[in-house]
Amino acid sequence: MAAQRPEGVGSTGCDLLRRLEVGASRAVTPSVAFGDISPSRGESARAIAIVAETAADVAAREALLDEAMGPKRKTKSSEKLRRGRRPSEGLAFVARDASGTVMGTVRLWDVTLGEGGPAALLLGPLAVDPSLKNAGIGSALMRHAVAEAARLGHGAILLVGDAPYYQRFGFSSQKTGSLAMPGPYERHRLLALELVDGALEGARGTLKAAGRKLKAQVVAA
Ligand SMILES: CC(C)(COP(=O)(O)OP(=O)(O)OC[C@H]1O[C@@H](n2cnc3c(N)ncnc32)[C@H](O)[C@@H]1OP(=O)(O)O)[C@@H](O)C(=O)NCCC(=O)NCCS
Repeated sequence: MAAQRPEGVGSTGCDLLRRLEVGASRAVTPSVAFGDISPSRGESARAIAIVAETAADVAAREALLDEAMGPKRKTKSSEKLRRGRRPSEGLAFVARDASGTVMGTVRLWDVTLGEGGPAALLLGPLAVDPSLKNAGIGSALMRHAVAEAARLGHGAILLVGDAPYYQRFGFSSQKTGSLAMPGPYERHRLLALELVDGALEGARGTLKAAGRKLKAQVVAA
């Protein structure tokens, strides 16, 4: 039976889009399908692929997020924009090793910038299995997510995160000064990347959830 996509994870037809090459240089090559984590770095050789998330990945993704981010992850302001919603169509990804185990996750969510404002995406959470930190998996997930969002025609991506990490993908706080999260957050950590020039010009106000709602679970009596 085909994998279900209960969280609105659509197939982009690009399930095997990114190759992760983490060798001596730890370079990421985002245009092919598989790579290895170099045994020369004391790690077992392991192929990693960035693929669309499926229903079968949900439990593993949640366990990974609990481990990587801790229990407070569900109290973040970003969570308010995600709760009860599906990720933006075609924009939920996992990093899988050769055995199929989920080693990383990233999703993007539909929001509007202020009441009735322009549409944008909110990225997160991004997390990698702690046993494989600094091996390029987070970067591969980010590059794939940004490329797919651009391919699908989105104008801008926002996130709340560490600028020293996300600036390498083009994110900055330059255009988020008039924007706000719906809850507590550190202003300097609200970052954005324009995929279309000018997409954030004049954008102001509090981000609002705009994603498709999750269907209520039907429980058999
Ligand atoms: C942050 C995270 C996703 C990065 O993924 P990763 O696969 O370990 O990172 P990559 O291999 O792509 O990149 C590693 C580089 O990023 C740097 N880096 C990692 N986290 C960083 C951070 N928070 N701030 C600044 N730099 C960071 C590393 O020092 C390393 O730098 P180098 O290339 O100069 O050596 C991962 O560490 C993680 O899951 N952390 C816990 C969850 C989390 O904090 N998520 C992000 C929420 S903002």
